[in-house]
Amino acid sequence: MTGAPLPRPYVSYVYAYPHKTAYRPLPGRPELAALWADEPKDALSLYAHIPFCEVRCGFCNLFTRIGAPDELTTRYLDALDRQAAAVREALGDAPARFAAAAFGGGTPTFLTAAELERLCDIAEHRMGADLRAVPLSVETSPATATADRLAVLAGRGATRLSIGVQSFVDAEARAAVRPQRRADVEAALGRIRDAGVPVLNIDLIYGIDGQDEESWRYSLDAALAWRPEELYLYPLYVRPLTGLGRSGPAESDGEWDARRLRLYRLGRDHLRAAGYEQVSMRMFRRPGAAPAGPDDHACQTDGMIGLGCGARSYTSALHYSFDYAVDMREIRSIIDAYTETGTRDFSRAQVGRWVDAAEARRRHLLQSLLQAGGMELAGYEKRFGTSAHEDFGAELDRFAERGWLDGTAPEGLLRLSAEGLGPELFSPDVRAAMAAYEPK
Ligand SMILES: C[S@@+](CC[C@H](N)C(=O)[O-])C[C@H]1O[C@@H](n2cnc3c(N)ncnc32)[C@H](O)[C@@H]1O
Ligand code: SF4
Repeated sequence: MTGAPLPRPYVSYVYAYPHKTAYRPLPGRPELAALWADEPKDALSLYAHIPFCEVRCGFCNLFTRIGAPDELTTRYLDALDRQAAAVREALGDAPARFAAAAFGGGTPTFLTAAELERLCDIAEHRMGADLRAVPLSVETSPATATADRLAVLAGRGATRLSIGVQSFVDAEARAAVRPQRRADVEAALGRIRDAGVPVLNIDLIYGIDGQDEESWRYSLDAALAWRPEELYLYPLYVRPLTGLGRSGPAESDGEWDARRLRLYRLGRDHLRAAGYEQVSMRMFRRPGAAPAGPDDHACQTDGMIGLGCGARSYTSALHYSFDYAVDMREIRSIIDAYTETGTRDFSRAQVGRWVDAAEARRRHLLQSLLQAGGMELAGYEKRFGTSAHEDFGAELDRFAERGWLDGTAPEGLLRLSAEGLGPELFSPDVRAAMAAYEPK
């Protein structure tokens, strides 16, 4: 294929496929009991979403609000408790078994120590997740990673704490509209290590205004000094309605893409030289460190129960959640509506996207290919009864022509090259739905 413009890298890397911007209100609001009736329930994942932060960082488009006035956290946890009861009931009599749990956000440690105890109680007693027996991953931030909260999480069985640092250079944090001081970040990392949770993950961002090779290496080294079991390197995305999205780019798209690609390669090579293994485009793991939480490779076949108003849930046929927004005012009203939802309304899915057989195949391919380890062709064929080349031949040929497939992969393994990308693989339907989404 000649002459076709190469898509820009990093255009729309997503956390999950299909992305929430492809979700729509579900006609008839299906009953959860019917949705889950025939689903395997012996290895579910539990995710609780806490949509509160002390600040709103300039790059962030996650579903979260600043602060929680008027005991909003109490009302939120009350609603989470009602939702958990409704979902538990919908899962039926046969006991559901949870194989992993995670608290994300926002910033789960925005909650006080006592509120975190309550959150763990809801997960254990209402949902039946045995937190001490399964991997439990929790996100935190420098300002909220206090010793009392960390002690609760460690005591309840947290196996992984993931902290957003973004940059160890104060001027870069400011440029990303992430008000924090290096000294406070170091103190938080010390408290996390003292808490004795087995896996520490540090998030860093590359592509921030003013960040160059030297300052990026400086942040990487500052992170490596803590010997974190995991590191996530995120390319900076600037999305509509975020703080940075409003102020506009400081350089042309092409320049910025080129800088991010240079910084990505530098980061990858630097971590590899320090002995880290690349697990996906973003994730790096220290050798010998036990995997202790969900990584990029969201479980392909098992169901997900999401609690909280920003959480997704997945059955094999439907991905669903509550309404989604980025704009602060919209987010606040969705959270308020969530806190007022009664148990009965929690027993139905509201917004979502059906995942038909073709989309399930695509999701498997996309999520496997985003892993450095690639996709076993035989595993695909066993699951779907067709071969990946039969289903995606034209797209894979295009990838090969662009040099995005790793020609050195062993037979039977489909693996992206260092230049390979994921979002290209979105289906036309999902891309159209995402494009038609009106940011709010
Ligand atoms: C829920 S936060 C982590 C925990 C905590 N809220 C914090 O910020 O410290 C998720 C992570 O996603 C990454 N992230 C979010 N939006 C991003 C964007 N627009 N570009 C790059 N990375 C982003 C950041 O590295 C951030 O730490
Ligand atoms: S990056 Fe973290 S602390 Fe900042 S707004 Fe997003 S979720 Fe909140």
